[in-house]
Amino acid sequence: MPNARITLDPHFTVAPVSRRIFGSFVEHLGRAVYDGIYEPGHRAANADGFRRDVIDLVRELGVSTIRYPGGNFVSGYRWEDGVGPREARPRRLDLAWHSTESNEVGLDEFARWTKEVDGELMYAVNLGTRGVQEALDVLEYANIPSGTTLSDQRIANGSPEPHAIRMWCLGNEMDGPWQLGHGTATEYGRLAAKTAQAMRQIDPTLELVVCGSSGAGMPTFGVWERTVLEETYEHVDFISCHAYYEPHDGDVASFLASAVSMDRFIDSVVASADHVKAVRRSDKTMYLSFDEWNVWYQSVYNDVEKITDPSAWPQAPRLLENAYSAMDAVVVGSLLISLLRHADRVTAASLAQLVNVIAPITTEPGGPAWRQTTFYPFAITSRLARGTVLDPKIDSPLIATDAYGEVPMVDAVATHDDAAGTASVFLVNRSLTETVTVSIDAGPLGILHVRSAETLHDEDFSAGNTLADQDRVVPEPNKTARVEGGTVTVTLPPVSWTALDLH
Ligand code: AHR
Repeated sequence: MPNARITLDPHFTVAPVSRRIFGSFVEHLGRAVYDGIYEPGHRAANADGFRRDVIDLVRELGVSTIRYPGGNFVSGYRWEDGVGPREARPRRLDLAWHSTESNEVGLDEFARWTKEVDGELMYAVNLGTRGVQEALDVLEYANIPSGTTLSDQRIANGSPEPHAIRMWCLGNEMDGPWQLGHGTATEYGRLAAKTAQAMRQIDPTLELVVCGSSGAGMPTFGVWERTVLEETYEHVDFISCHAYYEPHDGDVASFLASAVSMDRFIDSVVASADHVKAVRRSDKTMYLSFDEWNVWYQSVYNDVEKITDPSAWPQAPRLLENAYSAMDAVVVGSLLISLLRHADRVTAASLAQLVNVIAPITTEPGGPAWRQTTFYPFAITSRLARGTVLDPKIDSPLIATDAYGEVPMVDAVATHDDAAGTASVFLVNRSLTETVTVSIDAGPLGILHVRSAETLHDEDFSAGNTLADQDRVVPEPNKTARVEGGTVTVTLPPVSWTALDLH
């Protein structure tokens, strides 16, 4: 059996764990909102029409920021359609998803829902079909306590307290030709800079996210980041990254190593941002908001034939309802390892998305809500990652991949909470065939026992959780984990993700 060795030292730190790394995303898309978080006729619905069983699952998932209302949807959205008396709200064409938007849920309802799930609302403004004025209007409506027309409208609409939104996205994926209002990096960068400057006249402490590339494979990748940041560097705090992973041509070995691609993506965006910093002789460090990431089988779940006749665009159709396997959950766990490893620069991230649409939670109208396989690595990492991220020294056997060459079989990251006397280690075994034993030298951390060890693995990598079998794939206690003389050992089955809670 192959062996891997990991060394942990409390002095080898990356950065504090930012809770915002455990963000998620709810877009007006398919059944994310309607028949997802919101189903007024459901037996579990609260007074606002939101399902309490879904609220409970979102809380259990442990999400922090929740990005809203899109996504591609936001680039054609009029925020004011979604506020005020529901019966007066317009029905609109949603050009992004060829759907009909009823506007039953809007900013006020969503802000209340976000509080219910203990989340932080992260709001995207429309820089596709709209601009500076509309961004200022929604900011005034949401954040000004009272005494102006728009803030008083919010109060009259039943939200006496301001929503106090701190993080704002300046549009969505504006590099993508599919995006309403897409333009060049210079055009977008100038609009984003003007919008940011105007919003900061209302509140200079807002945290603003400018659009980076919608994927590292975009033809403008790198140049887009540099150009947009040249226009906006002093006015924004974050640049966004988006990435979705899936096996290509059945190459699951490379798919299991997707975190290598995420690592490289992050390193490249950091390099672009630091280039602009150097040229500007700036003291300011740009952070990354990885505000769309996930496994998404786009070849299967994004080839929906778009209905061309707008009068037939459905309301809340089943779109992008990716069913996840045990292997997908292992990859999601490994992507979280990559995000934590970069905690010095990636200080916010959003799993895209949250409910029904490429999501860890699935609902059935009038029926139950259940956890997809990918729910577990996210929930467990969010619960256990505390204190400071440590930079482990990993000595692992290598495995060959077509996409990335040789990669370590075992990848891992650790967090350490000195005050609480705890540490957590998150590990992945990317081998398709080999079980591996890992020895973790945790002596300097003073670890005495393993409080819990949980492994997500299934002999059938393709098994998933369905309406009929909702708990087919769940994490199991890993009984091999033990501590002796400051060394933790644990055995990892092939294609598995493991979390150790150490005291
Ligand atoms: O998350 C689904 C879609 O993927 C989003 O609307 C868009 O931003 C991205 O391309």
